[in-house]
Amino acid sequence: MLFSWAPHALYTKLPLLVLCLISLLLVSRTSSSSLFSLRISSLGSFSFGKTGKWTYSPRTNKTALVNSEDALIFAGFEGCASSREFYWHLASDKQGQWDRFPVVDSWKWDLENTGCDLRDLETHKEEMVRDLVEKGGWLILGDSITEGHFFSISCSLYPHVIATPDYLENPFFDRAWPQNIYLNPNSFLVQSLKFPPGFNITQTPLITFRRIDLLLSTEELAQFHKTRHSEEDGFVLFSEEAVWSLSPSYYLPEIFFSPLPQGNYAHLIASTAGHWTTTLFSGFANDTKDGIERYGEGIDGLIGFFGEATEMWANTVQEAIENDSEGVVLAGGRRARRQAIVRPYLTGHEDCHDYRQPWTNIEPFKWDWYNWGSIWKFNQVFETLLSGSRYADIHYVAIERPARLRPDAHATSDCLHIMAGAGVLEGWTNYIWHFVTREISGSKPFWLAIGGKGANEDSNK
Ligand SMILES: *[C@@H]1O[C@H](CO)[C@@H](O)[C@H](O)[C@H]1NC(C)=O
Ligand SMILES: *[C@@H]1O[C@H](CO)[C@@H](O)[C@H](O)[C@H]1NC(C)=O
Ligand SMILES: *[C@@H]1O[C@H](CO)[C@@H](O)[C@H](O)[C@H]1NC(C)=O
Ligand SMILES: *[C@@H]1O[C@H](CO)[C@@H](O)[C@H](O)[C@H]1NC(C)=O
Repeated sequence: MLFSWAPHALYTKLPLLVLCLISLLLVSRTSSSSLFSLRISSLGSFSFGKTGKWTYSPRTNKTALVNSEDALIFAGFEGCASSREFYWHLASDKQGQWDRFPVVDSWKWDLENTGCDLRDLETHKEEMVRDLVEKGGWLILGDSITEGHFFSISCSLYPHVIATPDYLENPFFDRAWPQNIYLNPNSFLVQSLKFPPGFNITQTPLITFRRIDLLLSTEELAQFHKTRHSEEDGFVLFSEEAVWSLSPSYYLPEIFFSPLPQGNYAHLIASTAGHWTTTLFSGFANDTKDGIERYGEGIDGLIGFFGEATEMWANTVQEAIENDSEGVVLAGGRRARRQAIVRPYLTGHEDCHDYRQPWTNIEPFKWDWYNWGSIWKFNQVFETLLSGSRYADIHYVAIERPARLRPDAHATSDCLHIMAGAGVLEGWTNYIWHFVTREISGSKPFWLAIGGKGANEDSNK
């Protein structure tokens, strides 16, 4: 190999969690918060509290939504590059719920003086596009919540990006189909961008979304379960419930590490939990088959298995990143180590359509639908797993609190999906962008400049 990466001993995860993110981190559970205070307090310089709130901040004087397109104005979008379920994503598809506008799109998360230099995505979208070109793209993996995030990014970065596939031309593309965001060749940015050598505007995606509900394939999960647990005769882990999933043995080599011009991803951004239910994983549910009753371990048993599976996933991803001697190609030709981010899963809000404004505190669940009441436990499993120094290149970015306070911000059809434009999904983009470009890329020994030519030139600070 021509070069080697910085040894891990040089690198500690502590500095990653500084600055802006802190006020978002306020995970709702005491144990997670104390975990964070522990990590943060060892930095010494940061005052850390339960700060951050939604503040009312309308963008226009227009007082009512009179057609579906008005949602774009209220959200502060010039348009959206993705054409998939356009007005469903913007939640302006049902006239019966138009009274939610413009208020629902008029909130901004106030970080409350954390003293950080967060670039506001809404006024700096060109800079994010520049970073995606010059520092490498994002591969985002997850279920339909993540698909909503992808749609929102396609709005936040419009008109500098285009998205594929074109669902107006090809409405038959199903959920498994990859969706991509590319640089718009007509954007004025094209003139001033520094393209990594080998980058092709029409071929190299800036962002790719794959629908991967479980982060592991059902086949490998079933096999993994067999190796870890004694299974009774006739045990089946999965029911017939629909699920989309792929194995890291596919998406790491075939997508994440794919070389220019097919891909140049710097960051893998993953999220899972929503489909980890005892209806899909029916092996954990109580059931009766051929007159024989069988008692599964229930949701807590499933969470235990989730812990084993995510550890296996993290081991695979960490090892694959270490094995990847090429890295992402930066503008100027330098290379950098790729990184993985885990975004906590977002739970739903019961009776969401009764709400017309954000909460100030996270309210408890009343009916415990699906696995919603347990999502925090799934998130905690991931957070605990990734909190030590064991996974140097996988980071848990706890940004779910703003969303937990927005029962008003759901799609028209259900109380799990979040609309694009309400500030929630756009906040995820903003904070993840900040995290990957400012919190982890700055720490020198880690984000090592490598390669001969150009090694000293920091062309893309
Ligand atoms: C709303 O109208 C007032 C008075 O005309 C104007 O000063 C203000 O800038 C407008 N606000 C927005 C967001 O357009
Ligand atoms: C970029 O890709 C397109 C087709 O995908 C190809 O026609 C074009 O020649 C490529 N451009 C460069 C500079 O390689
Ligand atoms: C499953 O069966 C056990 C044993 O009867 C019982 O304690 C448990 O509550 C049941 N769980 C569910 C979700 O029905
Ligand atoms: C990493 O490389 C080693 C040695 O070539 C190989 O055995 C292992 O399977 C690789 N791991 C991953 C996750 O790619």
